[in-house]
Amino acid sequence: MTAPASPTRQATSLFQERFGSRPTVLVSAPGRVNLIGEHTDYNGGPVLPLAIERRTVVAAARARGWSLASTLDGPLRRVDPGEDKPEGWLAYAWGVIRVLEAERLAPPGARIGVGSSVPVGAGLSSSAALAVSLTRALLALAGHRLNPRDVAELAYRAEHDEVGVGCGRMDQTVVARARRGHALYFDTETREVKHLPLDIPVWILETGVVHRLVGGRLDERRRECETALQLVQQQGYRVTQLAQVDPADLGALSRALPAPFASRVQHVVTEVRRTRAAAAALAHHQYAELGRLLFEGHLSLRDHYQSSCAEADCLVREAEEAGAMGARLTGAGWGGAVIAILPPGREAGALARIQERFRKAFGRLPTAWVTRAAPGLRSER
Ligand code: GLA
Repeated sequence: MTAPASPTRQATSLFQERFGSRPTVLVSAPGRVNLIGEHTDYNGGPVLPLAIERRTVVAAARARGWSLASTLDGPLRRVDPGEDKPEGWLAYAWGVIRVLEAERLAPPGARIGVGSSVPVGAGLSSSAALAVSLTRALLALAGHRLNPRDVAELAYRAEHDEVGVGCGRMDQTVVARARRGHALYFDTETREVKHLPLDIPVWILETGVVHRLVGGRLDERRRECETALQLVQQQGYRVTQLAQVDPADLGALSRALPAPFASRVQHVVTEVRRTRAAAAALAHHQYAELGRLLFEGHLSLRDHYQSSCAEADCLVREAEEAGAMGARLTGAGWGGAVIAILPPGREAGALARIQERFRKAFGRLPTAWVTRAAPGLRSER
């Protein structure tokens, strides 16, 4: 698939069409895929995502009141941060404005044009790309320069506290802080990040199944994890987050805890171990070991966290049969995208085979494209 038109050009021309003037600020942030460390970020564990070569660009200028347009839908929209949460992508803008106003960091108002090449609902963090780039753009309009860590935290509050997504901090953190050619190891308990070189292409295979995060299965899993933590504590284990459970205690816990809590704990604890092992493998350029961990992680999502779907299982299975070094569902799940490390030098053949098998099973071709690890939040010109 060819990459969509430049989102920078999209954002600036939309801005000029709708507002008849030029933006004074131009900021972009990427989408992301997670190599591994799924559903660990709200359980105090590590994650290992990378930014992708698809970006959301915000073009903005100071104004009175808040008016926005996006290449997603087109017409001019108004947002009032004092009113109820609007529908769709506007909710994220509303959330960002509310957080910045509460912190007295917002400009009086803004004209905003958004262009994006990040597919929406594909599990690639289009919402974090928007929230992070908009946060930085509005801060710039108000004359504030915050570091990417603080921008990520404000965007997290917009998504989590205001919009009400049951997310952890992975998406905003990688979108704001990623480096070109590197994956980002982020320990959500200590909030430390490490940039680990990633010099191989990562394939993105879209299931075509759109997931909805607000009020959905992610919230349900999050609540299950909270209950699971209480049950673990009632068994006498002194932990404050599920990620702290010792893998050696998993046998005893799986006998003591009722379903589905035992299997949720099983996933989180083994995923923490896999994520640390994957970071070590990456640090030593051991891609075969990294790939093995990805396959193992997918099985855990499918069987223990039950966040996969038939389309993702098919893509991962066929990727393995086509000789991929590793593949797994990435992001929240229940649809979205699969990542794969295809066999070097044999990518095209492997891809054709995976797509054909998927078409046989589901009657359509899955969208597939490749990315390298891209840079995070930045200014555009
Ligand atoms: C969503 C959330 C992230 C993370 C993943 C699952 O993408 O936004 O914070 O919880 O699901 O790993």
